[in-house]
Amino acid sequence: MTEIIDGNAVAQSIRDDLSTAIDQLADAGHTPTLATVLMSDDPASETYVSMKQSDCEEVGIEALDIDIDPEADASELYDTVSELNADESVNGILVQMPVPDHVSDRQVLRAIDPRKDVDGFHPENVGRLVAGDARYKPCTPHGIQKLIDSAGVDTEGKEAVVVGRSDIVGKPMANLLIQKAPGGNATTTVCHSRTEDLAEKTRSADILVAAAGVPEMIDGEMVAEGATVIDVGINRVDVSEQGSEGSQTESDEADTDKGYELVGDVEFESAKEKAGAITPVPGGVGPMTRAMLLYNTVKATGLQHDIDVDLS
Ligand code: GUN
Repeated sequence: MTEIIDGNAVAQSIRDDLSTAIDQLADAGHTPTLATVLMSDDPASETYVSMKQSDCEEVGIEALDIDIDPEADASELYDTVSELNADESVNGILVQMPVPDHVSDRQVLRAIDPRKDVDGFHPENVGRLVAGDARYKPCTPHGIQKLIDSAGVDTEGKEAVVVGRSDIVGKPMANLLIQKAPGGNATTTVCHSRTEDLAEKTRSADILVAAAGVPEMIDGEMVAEGATVIDVGINRVDVSEQGSEGSQTESDEADTDKGYELVGDVEFESAKEKAGAITPVPGGVGPMTRAMLLYNTVKATGLQHDIDVDLS
């Protein structure tokens, strides 16, 4: 029987576990505080940010919700980030990506104080991750490590194949899988749009992470018998025309009844026939991305106040 990995349940247990650390911080007089900054009128981004806000409320993290007009000058965003960097009551800063074209995402990510960079996207944090000394593991790949572990799959010595080389998922995922650490020690291949004979590579995977942002590009023929299949894609496919409206790798669990449906990068039905364990879309990776953001915010608060919080 193929195990369907329940991301909602694993995310709930992560949130439950965070309560000990949040209580510890409260005893020391600190409420973890996350500032989300949205400079976009994209409905999907708006949904993602509002879900992150309500997650914070649920676990007792204070959430500051900052909206910037997408037409505003880039300086408005940089000034906001500077203010949040200087504000000692703010522990984590998340600028929702993508930002408008007239704003450099690279520059924005570098402007965030790396100690408050709960996405783990600042070059200092990327460098630390690669060096095996992660301060904040990026939320999606960290959540995937937890999902793989929850399915009772040991990554050590396994063949892992990551499809996609984004800065947000593919690259950090591969880095975590090769670390000499729990959840790592896998022999890891990264595939991308220029990979030749992709199916041959994916069929060699004991652990297959699909994060290319292409609807249902991985079908059952591309999956090895018994593989663990992690589907990171969240693609909005127009239900009337079956055309893709674009794709993101984010924590989208809403919006399914608005003229489109969400499909992953994996053709679930055929892949399920081959996989030993597989994540659904929605309800797989998405909730984990959000849970690990809460985790990083709590961790950040502990680090900033020199409190050794109890996080597993
Ligand atoms: N846009 C899509 N995914 C993410 C994410 O994990 N963090 C931020 N800040 N923006 C995103």
